[in-house]
Amino acid sequence: MKKDFSLEPFTTLALKENSIKYFTGRERMVTDMGNLILDHQNFGITGAPGTGKTTILNILKKNLDSIKSFTKSHIIISFNFTIPNSSDFLKRLLFILLENLEQKDLSKINLKDIQENFLYTTGLQEFLRSLVRYEPAKELDGYQVLRLYSDFIKSELQKKETSKAINFIAPENLIFLIVKLLKNSKKHLVFFIDDMDKINYDPLTNNTGEDRLASLLFELKEIMELSTTTWIFTLPINFYEKYKINFNRPETTSFLGIFSDIFLLHNFSRKRTVEMFRTRLESSTFEGKIIDFIDSYALNLLLDLSRGNPRLFLYFLRKAYKFKEEPLKRKDENSDSTDTPDSESKAPDSRIKINHILASIDYIFNLDERNKKILAYIAYKQKTESNDHELQETTGLDRLSLNRRLKELADTGILDYFLDQYGKRIYITKKLT
Ligand SMILES: Nc1ncnc2c1ncn2[C@@H]1O[C@H](COP(=O)(O)OP(=O)(O)OP(=O)(O)O)[C@@H](O)[C@H]1O
Ligand SMILES: [Mg+2]
Repeated sequence: MKKDFSLEPFTTLALKENSIKYFTGRERMVTDMGNLILDHQNFGITGAPGTGKTTILNILKKNLDSIKSFTKSHIIISFNFTIPNSSDFLKRLLFILLENLEQKDLSKINLKDIQENFLYTTGLQEFLRSLVRYEPAKELDGYQVLRLYSDFIKSELQKKETSKAINFIAPENLIFLIVKLLKNSKKHLVFFIDDMDKINYDPLTNNTGEDRLASLLFELKEIMELSTTTWIFTLPINFYEKYKINFNRPETTSFLGIFSDIFLLHNFSRKRTVEMFRTRLESSTFEGKIIDFIDSYALNLLLDLSRGNPRLFLYFLRKAYKFKEEPLKRKDENSDSTDTPDSESKAPDSRIKINHILASIDYIFNLDERNKKILAYIAYKQKTESNDHELQETTGLDRLSLNRRLKELADTGILDYFLDQYGKRIYITKKLT
């Protein structure tokens, strides 16, 4: 292995620009999505965390950017948003529009006017926010607040007219302004809005994330239906489940009538995950095949534990690699630099092995040493049962304790089991198919 090996190709971050070359699979989906955008259709993307939603948004943007005729007549705007509150959303949207639009993009609208008015509202907001953020509440009495506010107004007044300095923008006015801007845009606007799937359950109102999102989207419906705009959102799986097209009741409004489609990113199959691994390994400085990089038992365990989730797979792999390197590095530091290439070739097996994988999953699965031994054993032997004497000996557990542990591991979803011909439970690692 070359000394300058870098884990960079194994990044767990969303792929963008230079790293998009590591993307594998989902070709058909990406093509379909690209065509929908060219058709100016709104759509959503949903999937478990780490299945590649942000990466796909980045790919779509990059693809569109490379079409000259498209960039001439379109403006691509992207931002992420996790707060299910329409007035926050609208403010953010207006702010972003003002940042992205130029006077030449608009007809019949004075952008500067809107900009100035809006800047005052953000000035006031910042002021109010700073009160909450920087001044401990109990030390601020009403008088002090008023004094601070009058100072703020005064300093603003020195810059501008009175009427503008206290001009708040109410949500209705916000929508009105935004619609006006969008309607008068000479170019078609394509919005990529990420992280809408991170909206959570609200314990105060008892509203679930998907319901909060649905009501937010309803409030935005007027904007999203404008013929000058196209919207692409990442959406929670629960939202998808609740509002997807129902073939038994085709008369119901699917996707709230806002999205023409919602794409579900499934976890990868075993084959896909290996393909992703191969692509990344080939992009690295490592010379060799997958089996020269990781022992096949370890690879199987890694595949099973990461369940086809690309981020989880890469995360475990990176960690396992580091665990493997640590003792090697220490050895390097201790020995003097008279190493010859010859002594390197005699070095023991330098592949990632089961114990490295088991060390890498610590933060996620929180297994004690005995449970790790059980997993390692199954990774080698493929299967076990509570009466397995060899396993009892390796772990120092009697039949009952072993039985309890196997059951627990199955309950947490790490192990799976099937019944043999006598009805006895045979445990295996939960398989990625
Ligand atoms: N099709 C793919 N090919 C190669 N790598 C992928 C693919 N899909 C996802 N990945 C990898 O998985 C990791 C997670 O991707 P990404 O951040 O895009 O997921 P996400 O769905 O946006 O996650 P989150 O829900 O946390 O926002 C990244 O390292 C990315 O490179
Ligand atoms: Mg993301």
